[in-house]
Amino acid sequence: MTYVIALPCVDLKDKACIDECPVDCIYEGERMLYIHPDECVDCGACEPVCPVEAIYYEDDVPDKWSDYYAANVEFFSEIGSPGGAAKMGLIAHDHDLIKSLPLQNVE
Ligand code: F3S
Ligand code: F3S
Repeated sequence: MTYVIALPCVDLKDKACIDECPVDCIYEGERMLYIHPDECVDCGACEPVCPVEAIYYEDDVPDKWSDYYAANVEFFSEIGSPGGAAKMGLIAHDHDLIKSLPLQNVE
C-alpha cells in the first residue's frame, strides 16, 4: 500500500511533505510531486502537512482523482526505485495525465 499525490499539487508543489517523509520517497517531477509506491512505508506523516490536501492513502483517494494512483505508480516505470528522492533532485518529466492538464493553481 502507499500514499498518493493528486491534482491539487499540480503547478503548486508546496513541498512541505518532503520534510516529513522518513524514507525520502516523495520525488519531484516537472509539475507535481509523486510518491514512490514501493518505497513509501505508509507512515502517514506527509498527508496532514500538505496545505492543499493533495495527499491521500490509496484507499481514500477521492473518486474524481482516482487516476492519480496510476499516475504516481507509472511515473516510476522508467525511473525504477532510486531509494531516495534528494539525490535525484528535479526529474524533468511528468506522467501523461499531468502533462495533458492545463495550467493549474494560478490566480
Ligand atoms: Fe504537493 Fe502538497 Fe507536497 S502541494 S509538494 S503534495 S505539500
Ligand atoms: Fe513518506 Fe510516509 Fe508519506 S513514507 S510518502 S511520509 S506516508
